[in-house]
Amino acid sequence: MAKPVTKYICQNCGYVSLRWLGKCPECDSWNTFVEEIVHTDKHKLKSKSSDILSAKLTNLSKVADINITEDKRIISTIEELDRVLGGGIVPGSVVLVGGDPGIGKSTLMMQLSDKIKNNTILYVSGEESPKQIKLRCERLGFAHDEFYILSETSLEIIAAIVDKLKPDIVIIDSIQTIYRNELESSPGSVSQLRESTAAVIQIAKAKNISFFLIGHITKEGFIAGPKVLEHMVDTVLQFEGERTHAYRVLRAIKNRFGSTNEIGIFEMTGTGLVEVRNPSEVFLSQRSKGISGSTVSASMEGTRPILIEVQALVSSSGYSVPQRTATGFDYKRLAILIAVLEKKIGIHLSKFDVFINIAGGIKIDEPSIDLAAAISICSSFKDTSIDHDMLILGEIGLSGEIRGISFAERRIQEAIKLGFKKVVLPKGNMKNFKPSKEIEYIPVESIQDAIRLIL
Ligand code: TYD
Ligand code: MG
Repeated sequence: MAKPVTKYICQNCGYVSLRWLGKCPECDSWNTFVEEIVHTDKHKLKSKSSDILSAKLTNLSKVADINITEDKRIISTIEELDRVLGGGIVPGSVVLVGGDPGIGKSTLMMQLSDKIKNNTILYVSGEESPKQIKLRCERLGFAHDEFYILSETSLEIIAAIVDKLKPDIVIIDSIQTIYRNELESSPGSVSQLRESTAAVIQIAKAKNISFFLIGHITKEGFIAGPKVLEHMVDTVLQFEGERTHAYRVLRAIKNRFGSTNEIGIFEMTGTGLVEVRNPSEVFLSQRSKGISGSTVSASMEGTRPILIEVQALVSSSGYSVPQRTATGFDYKRLAILIAVLEKKIGIHLSKFDVFINIAGGIKIDEPSIDLAAAISICSSFKDTSIDHDMLILGEIGLSGEIRGISFAERRIQEAIKLGFKKVVLPKGNMKNFKPSKEIEYIPVESIQDAIRLIL
């Protein structure tokens, strides 16, 4: 077979060059040339005439005639993973698993392989030798019979082996190490990533094999692989967490077969990842009584409410510009909260450092924990503690008003389950609740209200 022709195309304006160029002569942008396979005119013409002649109406169907009995999903029995995938693995789907190096992607995929019995699994590793993989398997107490390991980075060879072995699931660790012989550029480059992924998708769809592609891709997508892949694959999972903390959160960023709201929570232990089925209990387990700067709020993660501890520390600053640090909490929201507190409550924080932290290393991106964060800051500032059995819910507006939140009832139910006795909530949410024996409702309208009633 003749080597396919490759050309370099400016990603900005589409200028085509036969060589790589640093600067585009057309649009003057730098570093935008990417190698792409181009089909020759001869090839195009040939396929055109023959295809048109033999074209039958096979691929054309009436919507009404399409059979929608979905292929049976493969259930991994790792509940946290199945939920994020939208209820198991869809045959023929391509899932990209992204995350920082060392976060536990290989471990998760290995454990997944172990759990799916009755299916043939091929683990392609371009990063570790079969021996290293075997060692890891032993550490994880692995016991799967139909599990094959392949140390290979050439996509052509991988495709040939997949053809022979006919596995149900293929895991590629990592997509950055895979390359296509036809391309000159090195493995991990934009064009290699894109062409390899495109080829994998073709195999997956043609043979109904599910692929998991591991990628060292951070949220921004800049470190080791561009965002291009996200548009191509069916599902993108992001595995995140602080490496120094044991908890890991698996999040769907894109999912053609389910919702993207669900998260799965795992704990990294000496013997691999363990599912965390009761996250609220776990995240609150290390909370101490009677300390200042600590409150509890509830965040909705998909359909699940999770109770979290919001910690704040306010201490006099040794610098002319005070520090503001947010861990697991949005930095800009922290700045807004501080401004609202200064303006509406009259506490002056310009000479104080303010640190805010969501305990357990989890990231929360939800405004309904605003009030809890603000109360924590005040509590630390005044050095007084908040009732241990109090849940605080509410979003803070710029004029200090407490805005209603969604799913208040579910969040409160979760707190009742864990023995909470009081809940501070936006007045706007109150109309849905009647006085109850289980929990005392403390409705608030503004941040001033809340501070007066709680502190
Ligand atoms: P790994 O799955 O290799 O991460 P990735 O593939 O995302 O780069 O996991 C790396 C870390 O996980 C490593 O620092 C060690 C830790 N680990 C455990 O703590 N326990 C275990 O049982 C395993 C297998 C790994
Ligand atoms: Mg790895």
